[in-house]
Amino acid sequence: MKEWSRKARERGKRIGFVPTMGALHEGHLELVRRARQLSDLVVVSIFVNPTQFGPNEDFASYPRDLPADVDLCIREGVEVVFAPEPEDLYPAGSQTFVDVFELSSRLEGESRPGHFRGVATVVLKLLNAVHPHVVAFGQKDAQQVIVVRRMLQDLMADVEMLVVPIVRDADGVALSSRNARLSPEERKAARAIPKALEAAEAAVAAGEKDGAKVVRAAQAVLEQDPMLRVDYVALVDTDRLEPAERMDGERLLALAVYAGPVRLIDNVLLGKRVLSSRS
Ligand code: PAJ
Repeated sequence: MKEWSRKARERGKRIGFVPTMGALHEGHLELVRRARQLSDLVVVSIFVNPTQFGPNEDFASYPRDLPADVDLCIREGVEVVFAPEPEDLYPAGSQTFVDVFELSSRLEGESRPGHFRGVATVVLKLLNAVHPHVVAFGQKDAQQVIVVRRMLQDLMADVEMLVVPIVRDADGVALSSRNARLSPEERKAARAIPKALEAAEAAVAAGEKDGAKVVRAAQAVLEQDPMLRVDYVALVDTDRLEPAERMDGERLLALAVYAGPVRLIDNVLLGKRVLSSRS
């Protein structure tokens, strides 16, 4: 990977990079297309990163289909699919991790301790292997964008970050590899998630400034569906991810909900449409 990248750079090519865990869908492909617009050559990595899964999480059952993913990449004209094995990225004796302390402990971090340590670490390793000019992330994982953005700044990384808006299905549900594991009934129940975000947006549009009330507008929609179990709904500022008592400037409404056994996350930016690559 490094050799290919070095040669491409010598030929003056701009490299775009889309890190993924595979089970590719239109959301991933949108990242590929947007990365393509900003580069000559596109690399997609496919690696189900063990260090970002907790002991009771779905690492073993995470959907994997490398041949289908490679086909999709070929159809999109991706130049390189980088699919390392765990021992390539975490050889015996490895002992270095990247911790983005405070940001990692909020929201997802409360339910998934260690998750962003795994994400930050693997993203840095992948960036060092691929050495791209631009790297694309989806706003679907808004906290991931904010954590990685902080890491790139703090570690003085020499890469441009591209943030791509959430791609949704016709019924509003955000595309996710984990949607494949929803039963038809759970999939139907999941429609309440985008509706909850819309309810919060509507409250803000109607002039609501009280953060707790904006959160409640979303929660009320989710609680109507007995198949859903709310993990959290939170309104936070987008720099430090601290709870926001008032609507004032850019806010992130983020939520995690269980539909049956499947944990889904979604979010909406209030007061702004897409996260900036700079904090
Ligand atoms: P994964 O969940 O496969 O997602 C890869 C990228 O696709 C992420 O940047 C994610 O935000 C983006 N994405 C997923 N669904 C999307 C949607 N509906 N709309 C827009 N973008 C979407 O995120 C990871 O993998 C991993 O944590 C990774 C960064 C690869 C590190 O292991």
